[in-house]
Amino acid sequence: MKTIVKKINETLLTIKDLEEAVSILQKDGLVAFPTETVYGLGANALHPDASKKIYAAKGRPSDNPLIIHIADMDDLYKLADEVTESALLLAKVFWPGPLTLILKKSEIVPYSTTGGLDTVAIRMPKNQIALSLIKESGLYIAAPSANVSGRPSPTKAEHVIEDLDGIIDMIIDGGKSVIGLESTIVDVTGSVPVILRPGYITKDMISEVVGHVEYDSYILKREAGQNVVAKAPGMKYKHYAPKGELTIYEGSQEAVIAAINKEANEKIRKGYKVGIIGTDETLKGYPKGVVKTIGTRADEETIASGLFELLREFDKEEVEFIYSESFQDDRLGQAIMNRLLKAAGYHIETV
Ligand code: TXA
Ligand code: MG
Repeated sequence: MKTIVKKINETLLTIKDLEEAVSILQKDGLVAFPTETVYGLGANALHPDASKKIYAAKGRPSDNPLIIHIADMDDLYKLADEVTESALLLAKVFWPGPLTLILKKSEIVPYSTTGGLDTVAIRMPKNQIALSLIKESGLYIAAPSANVSGRPSPTKAEHVIEDLDGIIDMIIDGGKSVIGLESTIVDVTGSVPVILRPGYITKDMISEVVGHVEYDSYILKREAGQNVVAKAPGMKYKHYAPKGELTIYEGSQEAVIAAINKEANEKIRKGYKVGIIGTDETLKGYPKGVVKTIGTRADEETIASGLFELLREFDKEEVEFIYSESFQDDRLGQAIMNRLLKAAGYHIETV
């Protein structure tokens, strides 16, 4: 299959730019499109075979529920059976934006899209290309991250091309995703909202709107062996696995730099290719290895938006071992560490 790649400027967007993508979606094809979190791989959410097609392209069995993307608040009521008070409050404050709500599904949502669950995941994205694409198509768009299963989520069209060129109908290139981490997922079916996946919208931000909020215990997991079942089925998969073996070091800055250099030196002496994930502040502390900065500690948002791209760069460099600094475990750092720990298979050393 020849994949159409079309560049669209989010700020200069016209309806005409979207005609081809709209027509492909209406014919039940697959279109990758930018969102403010990561690129999504979209299809008609109400088509019973949408999830099958999407997961065939991603190389994963279709037992994982998909997020349905909407462009209009009224659509919430069409897809969800019971819109709880907390759901409505959160939607009003954070939509359009990087927040996904889990609610009881309505009859029109096929079980194939929800992975057999009676609940449905709904999000209204903020990216104008995504919003207009949904509006113009007149559809609800089911979209997981547009990566091949097991690879880091794509934050640029180039990443989608790397993974899915020749496999899907179209890729819309709308530039870099500003946030760079997938949306926060909140289960709002019960009386207390539960965060199933941390993201840009933090626990404190949610709590300010709806009061008491809890984390699904899976999120707080720090060791591979811990036997906790994730409430978001997709969270259980080994995600974002870079090709090199990733280890995270936590402790004081000096101790972390010393430990990483010691490990890196030993591996380099044995002939291995080593990658190091540092920050703008610490880059000079690493004399050897393929050293890359993930962003600046002065602005966690740079770290969030740099993570997935960095992991892909290390794959291209074919490093065999990667050593990373760790990040604060609250606010946006909670989401960053969640992704980093998964990429490392929970391999973290305290020094
Ligand atoms: O930012 C995002 O959310 C991106 C963009 C494209 O919107 N999408 C994304 O989709 O990250 P995906 O498929 O990679 O992750 C969706 C997550 C999975 O972990 C899945 O298990 C969970 O949402 N999920 C979907 N429906 C659910 C449901 N009914 N109950 C619990 N978890 C659900
Ligand atoms: Mg994903």
